[in-house]
Amino acid sequence: MQVDRANEADIQRAYIEKCREYLLDKEKELGRPLTACVNTFGCQMNARDSEKLLGILEEIGYKPVETEDADIVIYNTCTVRENANLRVYGRLGQLHKFKEKNPDMLIILCGCMMQEPEVVEKIRKSYRFVDIVFGTFNIFKLAELIHTRLNTGSQIIDIWKGTDYVLEQLPTDRKYKFKSGVNIMYGCDNFCSYCIVPYVRGREMSRPPIDIIRESERLVADGVREIMYLGQNVNSYGKKLEETEEAKGSQDVTERVTFADLLKELEKIEGLDRIRFMTPHPKDFSDELIETIAASDKVCHHLHLPLQSGSSRILKAMNRHYTKEQYLALVDKIREKIPDVSITTDIIVGFPGETEEDFEDTLDVVRQAKYDSAYTFIYSKRTGTPAAKMENQIDEATVKNRFDRLLATVAEVSHSVSARFEGQVMDVLVEGLDDHEEGLVTGRLKSNMLVHFKGKEELIGQIVQVKLTECKGFYYLGEMIN
Ligand code: 5AD
Ligand code: SF4
Repeated sequence: MQVDRANEADIQRAYIEKCREYLLDKEKELGRPLTACVNTFGCQMNARDSEKLLGILEEIGYKPVETEDADIVIYNTCTVRENANLRVYGRLGQLHKFKEKNPDMLIILCGCMMQEPEVVEKIRKSYRFVDIVFGTFNIFKLAELIHTRLNTGSQIIDIWKGTDYVLEQLPTDRKYKFKSGVNIMYGCDNFCSYCIVPYVRGREMSRPPIDIIRESERLVADGVREIMYLGQNVNSYGKKLEETEEAKGSQDVTERVTFADLLKELEKIEGLDRIRFMTPHPKDFSDELIETIAASDKVCHHLHLPLQSGSSRILKAMNRHYTKEQYLALVDKIREKIPDVSITTDIIVGFPGETEEDFEDTLDVVRQAKYDSAYTFIYSKRTGTPAAKMENQIDEATVKNRFDRLLATVAEVSHSVSARFEGQVMDVLVEGLDDHEEGLVTGRLKSNMLVHFKGKEELIGQIVQVKLTECKGFYYLGEMIN
């Protein structure tokens, strides 16, 4: 979908104003503030989108709340696994009950699940109480959609199939003052055979470097010290940049910019202390990128490197474009250049046709790669993906058995490596008060592990030096060094 309105940001701000007028009237009528709850399912990209949605709602004047008995409830949905969809339908019943008590309540669904036509059809037919439905490409239109809903009284459905238009200048509400995500690209062109993302998030599109740098600088000026750069496949950043609309006319993009080039530019931003990124694809992990990370003071030595399967045969069927041996060689190369690196991963169990031998290969890679931790998933048959049509889908009992064995192996491996920093003094970015024990704060190492230590609220957002006194498996206990 093309957006012709050159002044789209102004148009959306005007809608925010109009919604504000409605809100003020309504607040007067009810004698209380109006509230909004944004619930996020799924990945970091969705979390970032939710910050944008909440930013718009707060700009209108809604008070953010955690509970779903609010005047606006948005579900920002995920559709990577089939049961994520079922969970959303289940929870809609509960929302309906809230709406019966509060007829002015607006129920809004957005995100990846809404990019599936069958889902939208089902909502149109069976969930008439849902007020607004939009997808992943037009979240910047939230105020406009609310305004249209208020003025027409009918269910609003606005799904785009794709776009090369992104509006980034609207307000956001960051969950943390001191850290933030920044999108560097949207969509995915990889078409792993099990994955729905390329169908719901559209074609890969990189943002021009200058926009990413400016947004990062604005965040740093606003107190951010750590930025997670986000994309489905960050290390293919820049591949199609020359072709995008935004890149045309931008003098900064005269030749191909790689992800490593981008990191080098971001490293120069004064006041930005930590750089993270999510998610790289093993097939595109260049030597240049490894060197750049190794040489950088700011890029955290934590790499999330999705394996998916350790069997070359299954990897081929998954369309991953690497073999077991290539993956392990990459891990070796990374460890050689960045000895203190922490590596984490994603693994799917029970892909169609997976034999016991294939699964053993996965366990073998887990042991050899020595992951700090792993997100483990049971294969979910996503209608619309090539893998859903494959024969020999694996029976539930076999998958469950393998899944349990995988969990045990991951726990064993991560336990064996997690204590390796014990006794060392390391930088910790303090994230908040400890949830469990009074007088303690919780912070994060560059390796992404959590550390709990004695400290006060004033430390939140600061980077302090902490001696890691004891490893407790998934976290450390420590003592701050003054
Ligand atoms: N079934 C199970 N896990 C999946 N993932 C993506 N699609 C599926 C699926 N159909 C997992 C992958 C990916 C992570 C975000 O979700 O491991 O890396
Ligand atoms: Fe899905 Fe593969 Fe793209 Fe990741 S790289 S979003 S797993 S298709």
